[in-house]
This record gives sequence, structure tokens and C-alpha cells, in this order.
Amino acid sequence: MGDVKLYEWDTIVTEGKARIIVPKQEFFLRSDGVYEPAWAPVFYNPVMEHNRSLTVLLLTALFNGGEFFFIEPLAGTGVRSIRIALEAGGVGIANDLEPLSYRYITRNIALNDLCNVIEAYNYDANSLMNNVRNSSIVVDFIDLDPYGSPMPFIEEAAHSIGRGGVIAVTATDTATLNCNYPEACYRRYGAWCKRVDFSKEAGLRILIGSIVRASAAKDVALKPLIAYYKDYYYRVFFMADKSAGRADELLKNIGYIKYDARTLNREYLTDSEMVKTYEKHLIIGPLWISALIDVSIIEKTITSVNERGLSVNNKIVEFLRELSMEYEINTPYYRLDKLCKIAGVNMPQRSKIIGALKELGYRASATHFDPRGIRTNASLNEILSALQKISAQ
Ligand SMILES: C[S@@+](CC[C@H](N)C(=O)[O-])C[C@H]1O[C@@H](n2cnc3c(N)ncnc32)[C@H](O)[C@@H]1O
Repeated sequence: MGDVKLYEWDTIVTEGKARIIVPKQEFFLRSDGVYEPAWAPVFYNPVMEHNRSLTVLLLTALFNGGEFFFIEPLAGTGVRSIRIALEAGGVGIANDLEPLSYRYITRNIALNDLCNVIEAYNYDANSLMNNVRNSSIVVDFIDLDPYGSPMPFIEEAAHSIGRGGVIAVTATDTATLNCNYPEACYRRYGAWCKRVDFSKEAGLRILIGSIVRASAAKDVALKPLIAYYKDYYYRVFFMADKSAGRADELLKNIGYIKYDARTLNREYLTDSEMVKTYEKHLIIGPLWISALIDVSIIEKTITSVNERGLSVNNKIVEFLRELSMEYEINTPYYRLDKLCKIAGVNMPQRSKIIGALKELGYRASATHFDPRGIRTNASLNEILSALQKISAQ
């Protein structure tokens, strides 16, 4: 480990294989005693360890443990870049606009002996990506982890990523994407939304739809590899194909959801179907209406973990398995409390209705979006009648 001076407000934490200098949490507590990362002079959020660990696992699988070039344009302390270098074999750039963050990044690179592996910069994220694009470097991976919406950085990232490269995006403005602020959702993501029982999934699909459209404007097809919701953020990995034709193809996966709030019926509509008028129905979108996962990537990641004997948090592998099972069904999840209100029955345990639907030959599972949510390919009438049967038992 490199020799780096520590100040009285610094401490060192271990995350994965990295040792990271971060501000002492006790200096930045809210009145309720909870650590508030945004108050610290440099941003380090221990809750995002899951996000970073999953990233490291996917990158190891995607690049087969070999070397690849990455950019982290909004790097905070540099913890993510350092883990990508130490654990996934990446070589790259960690950048942050804040001069103090830049200082932490350089010290953390030195602490982890990575001065020949990661370069630190102190630019605006878009300028940094623009500068790298104008060099001859081929970028294999870009990780966008901003405060709030990632949309201000998407066009530049789509333009800067190399052919076949991967872009990962975190969005923490979930209140907007979940439609607590419809005007903000339209302004930032160009989609109309309304509070519905599957709002968390609608938000994820709006985010993907918006990113796919913004990158298509640069003749880049960004195809989602894995998309999920966790804690208070969304995370999506995209594979980049630099082709206008592929971007046109991908845009066919953008559409709308026709939703009847009275019956809870939901249906995807393509753009051409939207030309018709749907009275009584709420129309949400445009948004992504296709698969939220590329199952082969999950299998590849789990195989890579097993083959390499990676010491990982088993919860993350379990999370990936559950996601791939859940996403076998593309219809947005239903909320059990809303269904039961319409069926006029008490809410059964979630496992009971899932079991009953499976016995009837349908696919059914819990959803990670909501503890009251179920996913199924049974029709609404079939779900309601299954609920009534359970209630009569
Ligand atoms: C959520 S934090 C990044 C956390 C980091 N990726 C991690 O995994 O710990 C967002 C960072 O973006 C930086 N930032 C905000 N606007 C920026 C911009 N326009 N260009 C570069 N950095 C920016 C902030 O200083 C902050 O450190």
C-alpha cells in the first residue's frame, strides 16, 4: 500500500479489495444521528457497496477478467474506479469536478498503488468524455453515477463509448421517475407518467426509454443488459452498438402502457398503436416495453463467479438469480393490495397467490420492486378469480 498522509477528519475503510480514505462519518451526522453522504466534503456512500460490487462482478464476466479501458466521469472518492481496477482488471480514468474530490481520488489511487493504472482528472464530466473521445483511446466501459438524473451525461457517453462497449447508469431521482413530479418527469425524461400500482417499474422503463432515445440521436443503439431498482436508486447496464440501423431497430422497443386504474388492466402499446384513441385509459410513456434483462449476461456472470472462485457477497448472486427469474415475465408487476380491493377479498400471503397461479400453469413470482408486488403472465381475470378461490378456502 502506498504511503499517504491522513488528516484528522479522514479515516480508511475497506471495500472489496480497495482501501479508501473517506471523511469520518461522525463529522457529518444529521440531527437524527444518520450519516448524510451529501454533507461530507467528498461523497462516499457505504450503502452503494452493493451497486459497486455488482458492477465489478458484471465487468469481470463481460471482459472475461482481461484488461479493458474505463472512464468514471463522476467519481467522488474514486472507490468505484479503484475496485474496477483491483477486482475486474480495468485500466482507466477517475474524474470529478470538485477539486476536493479530485484530491481524494489522487490520494486513494496512491494508497492502492494504482498510479500506473488509473489517471485522475478534475474536469466537468461531459468535457472529460469529450476530451477522451478526441484522443485515440477506445473506451470499453463508462460508469455514470451522478447526483439525481443521468440524462445530462447520456449523449456524451453514447458518443464516447467504443463499439461493443458497456455504459452503466445510476439514477437516484426516483421520486421524479416514480411520478411524484409528473412535470419534472416530462422535462427530464420526455415521458408522461401517472402514479400507478407499478410506478417503480414504470420509472425504470421511462429511464431506459429516455436513454435509448437520447443515444439513438447519436446513431448509437444502447441495448439494456440488466436493469433493476434497489434502495433508492435505479441501475441499468447497456451494451453499445454504434449503428444508426441498430438504433432504428431498438427504437421499436419504445412504446406506451395503456392502463385502466379502475380494473388495474395494463397493456403495452407500440407507437403505431398509439395513433388510435384510448378512451378511459391512462397512457404512460414513451417508455421501454421490452425485456429488462439479457439472461445470458446473468448466466455468464454467475458462471464467471463460480469459475474464478470470486469471493463475493452471495446476496448479490442470489439477487441476480431472482432478477432473471422475475423478468421471465415482461408484464409490469401488480400490487396485491390493489388486486384484493377489486376482488373484494382480504390480502393473502404473497407466496399463496404465487403458488396458486403456478398450480394453474401460469408463471408467477415475487418482484424486487415492491414487497406487495407479484408478477405473472396470468390475465387479470385469472388473477382475480385465483384470489377469490384462496379467500373461499
Ligand atoms: C454520487 S457521487 C459519485 C459517487 C461515486 N461514483 C461512488 O461510487 O462512490 C457524484 C459525484 O459527481 C460529482 N459531480 C457533480 N457534477 C459533476 C460534473 N458536472 N462533472 C463531474 N463531476 C461532477 C460530484 O462532485 C460527486 O462527487
